[in-house]
Amino acid sequence: MTQGNQPPNLDQFSVNIDTSKPNVARMYDYLLGGYHNFEADRQLAEQILAVHPDSKINAFINRRVLKRMVEYLTQAGISQFLDIGAGIPTVQNTHEVVQAINPDAKVVYVDIDPIAVAHSKMLLADNPNVKAFQADAAQIEMILDHPVTKELIDFRQPVGVLLISVLHYITDDDAAFRVVEKIKSAIVSGSYVAIIHSTLDGYKPASAEEGDRLLKLASAARHRDKAEIAQFFEGLEIVEPGLVYSPRWRPESEDDPFYDEPWRAFGYGGIGRKP
Ligand SMILES: C[S@@+](CC[C@H](N)C(=O)[O-])C[C@H]1O[C@@H](n2cnc3c(N)ncnc32)[C@H](O)[C@@H]1O
Repeated sequence: MTQGNQPPNLDQFSVNIDTSKPNVARMYDYLLGGYHNFEADRQLAEQILAVHPDSKINAFINRRVLKRMVEYLTQAGISQFLDIGAGIPTVQNTHEVVQAINPDAKVVYVDIDPIAVAHSKMLLADNPNVKAFQADAAQIEMILDHPVTKELIDFRQPVGVLLISVLHYITDDDAAFRVVEKIKSAIVSGSYVAIIHSTLDGYKPASAEEGDRLLKLASAARHRDKAEIAQFFEGLEIVEPGLVYSPRWRPESEDDPFYDEPWRAFGYGGIGRKP
């Protein structure tokens, strides 16, 4: 499969994948220094890095903010999580962060990518409180009704729903808003929805050509502006510090990457609580 460590054997999961096409989950894994990626993923990731060298650091920032959000929710008493667009397991997965604080907490991982799901299943074989299945976030009813979701998540109790760097892959606005609306109606008061969403707000390309090249490479995603992303939180109480550039979501210190130029992370983050 790739460089570095030997990747785990996925044969037992009968995963059918087309490795000749680049895939978001595996490109993200490559940017994070993981080894669950193929030549096509690395090639496109390198093309993006050539135009936009910040991509690697942005993947790390995203992961750090995810960790802070999950810690915040666990400390707020949430003990069941639905992580949609969870990605390929890497260090400090949601369940590791959550279960370090509350070992009995439950986590359901959902991703559209079969590789991500196969790796999650393998990693989670010995952890009865964490399960994964494959689904498209756009099929949100199926996700909410899925037997695995129902097995681990009691929707009569507060839930933490994570939509971390995934909604921008639902490029159709109506479809993306419908997903979040369905989630908001399925959860009870005291539940939370955490979102990190890609944006081009504040982006100043060094040249028009650079801007064009970046936009072309990023065209698989719908980068929404702050007002559009804020609409996902309608009906929820947004927790402090609000909807902010992701490096500014409860930063660890002023030395955090891109603290002073937070727009460079290309993302907004926020958590809303259902009243
Ligand atoms: C940038 S990664 C983010 C992974 C993880 N949430 C994180 O923040 O570290 C985006 C993930 O969303 C998944 N994804 C993209 N479109 C999706 C969809 N329509 N439904 C479910 N997952 C999707 C990709 O396979 C990938 O694993």
